[in-house]
Amino acid sequence: MTDPLLVLFGATGDLSEKKLLPALKGLHESGDGMPVLLVSRKDTDIHGFIEYMGIGDYPDSFLEDLYYVQKDVTEGADGRLRERVREIEGFHGCDTRLFYLALPYFLFEDASSLIDGSGLNRDGARVAFEKPFGDSLESARSLLSDIRGFFDRDQVFLVDHYLGKEAVEDLLATRFGSDLLGAVWNGKHAESIQILLSEDFGPSGRTRYYDSAGAIRDVVQSHLLQALSLATMRPPDSLSEEDVREAKLEALRSLELPETQDLVVGQYGAGQNPSSEAYRELEGADEDSATETFAALRFGIDSPLWPDTDIYLKTGKMLDRHEASINLVLEEDSRLYDKNQGEAVTLRMHPTQGLRLRLTQKGGDGVESMRQDVLQNSPDSSTAYENIFSGLVRGDHRLFVSQEFMEESWRITDRLIDMKESKNNNFPNYAPGTKGPEKAGNIPERHGDSWIDLTRERETDT
Ligand SMILES: NC(=O)c1ccc[n+]([C@@H]2O[C@H](COP(=O)([O-])OP(=O)(O)OC[C@H]3O[C@@H](n4cnc5c(N)ncnc54)[C@H](OP(=O)(O)O)[C@@H]3O)[C@@H](O)[C@H]2O)c1
Repeated sequence: MTDPLLVLFGATGDLSEKKLLPALKGLHESGDGMPVLLVSRKDTDIHGFIEYMGIGDYPDSFLEDLYYVQKDVTEGADGRLRERVREIEGFHGCDTRLFYLALPYFLFEDASSLIDGSGLNRDGARVAFEKPFGDSLESARSLLSDIRGFFDRDQVFLVDHYLGKEAVEDLLATRFGSDLLGAVWNGKHAESIQILLSEDFGPSGRTRYYDSAGAIRDVVQSHLLQALSLATMRPPDSLSEEDVREAKLEALRSLELPETQDLVVGQYGAGQNPSSEAYRELEGADEDSATETFAALRFGIDSPLWPDTDIYLKTGKMLDRHEASINLVLEEDSRLYDKNQGEAVTLRMHPTQGLRLRLTQKGGDGVESMRQDVLQNSPDSSTAYENIFSGLVRGDHRLFVSQEFMEESWRITDRLIDMKESKNNNFPNYAPGTKGPEKAGNIPERHGDSWIDLTRERETDT
């Protein structure tokens, strides 16, 4: 039995407010709570913190296990952090130290040095680093070498909260557990794999960071390449961390970079509504920013499992809907009926999580597409960040990004960024509330496909 203490750096930040504190409350409510020492530079105490973060209405039993220490991670160890940690561990009888760095990556080395220099890096301590881990292959490698100077490989947990989503587990079960679906999840039947992450909002409180990153670094490098590798990897020898890690890495290495015209980037302009500002008008964005808020692309894949299968990714901000899904679109293969679109298996990640099928059924004089949600995760199932924290408590590396995967994904991302920068992008090039730049539609068209539209087919009433 493990009794952890979680030390949360970046406790006053946007991520902490929106995701981490609610997830910790969720764990507490399901009986898996833990004492949490919150750290930031803000000069306050735990009462001031609770008020500042607006969490006074969280259950008292949860708030009672929160502690706060003011600390600038760039100032080095001065004993305060160590004293608080030991005090709380003594009081709660904790035997496992967990550190969660919800900090910008350029503070990771300072924070690691602080943990180590405070004498807190004892055996079994685990350190989670939020994404992004660096902003290029070079910076990620140098950061990794810096933090490995403090921590062993097994102590390092690189976070991509997509790996905590139920849909990711569902994808493995669909591909390798279900005989029915596993039988079609391959290049013999698939015309394309499409991974979509569309948001109907802008970068909100993260504009300053986002303006230096853009859609490719922010989500393609992490969430979308993770989803892609799980969707295309060969069956691993077992579900062990090592075997899954190896199969995912191979999948990433087998990707063929897009041709120039198969990468389309965009940035949204102002909407018709006066309150709908252009991206460049946001506080934190450069007034002539060249940052992409939209990216669509096609990869080829050099794998015997996927001969002739097209792999499409699409993501963007301020689009017409908020939706995330992994889709396998089947070849249209019927001599007797005229079909207007192929069938599809969809793993939905947002707004609901579950499995959806697009099937062909009798309709009118011929056939029509119908969609059916066949598995729906319960709305109260644990959130991605609850699963990430639980994974950290268990030391389960399967829910985290391997160091090799992180490097390979940056290698691909660097190439995509070079391609983007070599293009003559005329921003802004799409309006808020739309599907993004029209040219994005040309990518699948050029290969005889189209973007899957999850709203087109009729829902069955069963
Ligand atoms: N926000 C999101 O939706 C989101 C999503 C995915 C990943 N992430 C990642 O999560 C991390 C945090 O993001 P965020 O959006 O929460 O950023 P943020 O709102 O800017 O918060 C940064 C946090 O770091 C603390 N901090 C900054 N400098 C510090 C220093 N020198 N010493 C100690 N603490 C310091 C800040 O507190 P003080 O200023 O009070 O010290 C604050 O708590 C980043 O790596 C980000 O990329 C964020």
